[in-house]
Amino acid sequence: MIIKCVKTDYILRMSLKQIIAPSLLNANFLNLGSSLSAIENGGAAWVHLDIMDGHFVPNISFGPGIVAEIKRGTSLVLDCHLMISAPEHHVDAFAAAGADYITVHAETTHHLDRLLQRIRELGCKPAVSINPATPLEMIYPVLDVVDMVLIMSVNPGFGGQSFIPYTLDKLRELRRRRPELDLQIDGGIKLGNLDSAREAGANVFVVGSAIFGAESPENACREFVRRLK
Ligand code: DX5
Ligand code: ZN
Repeated sequence: MIIKCVKTDYILRMSLKQIIAPSLLNANFLNLGSSLSAIENGGAAWVHLDIMDGHFVPNISFGPGIVAEIKRGTSLVLDCHLMISAPEHHVDAFAAAGADYITVHAETTHHLDRLLQRIRELGCKPAVSINPATPLEMIYPVLDVVDMVLIMSVNPGFGGQSFIPYTLDKLRELRRRRPELDLQIDGGIKLGNLDSAREAGANVFVVGSAIFGAESPENACREFVRRLK
């Protein structure tokens, strides 16, 4: 019986898509169109958009207006990662801007279940994220409500930080519990730690500086995509 379950879990896990989601945070904002073309040509299917408010995280990035511009300029899946306080006041605007996935942090809202339901009502895929120091148990109640979980492997706010290894334990535990759920990892992902994140259970990989800090973002993206095949 145990052997059968392990086999079923293995099959479910193997059927998950392996996805590279390049983060535009470190892209050239003077020429976002060419940044998008680079990752499209490099084989990415998603683009990860980091929304920061200077309150939940120390940095400020961009808002729904830029997301709407990006929507007009690409057919990539828009993966919006909201690192903002009280995201319930803003999800409607990001949905209207064309977000496909909207990820909110469990630390940022009092009514997480209501908010995730609202995101689905808006026609988007709801996802939940937790910071490195937030216990995984905080999101157990909503695992049936989300389409994806994002495990932060750096403290959110900036690109180019070092990967925090203990976050892999959360991936392992989540993957054990949910063989079928999309699990995303975000922060400090390089070619050198891609395999360990994958083995721990991630199947969606956010990559920022390792793509947009490279001499050729297109080639760097292509190499990440190739490594997942
Ligand atoms: C960090 C952001 C990340 C970041 C990833 O707060 O959520 O998406 O841009 O960039 P790298 O891959 O450079 O850590
Ligand atoms: Zn992110």
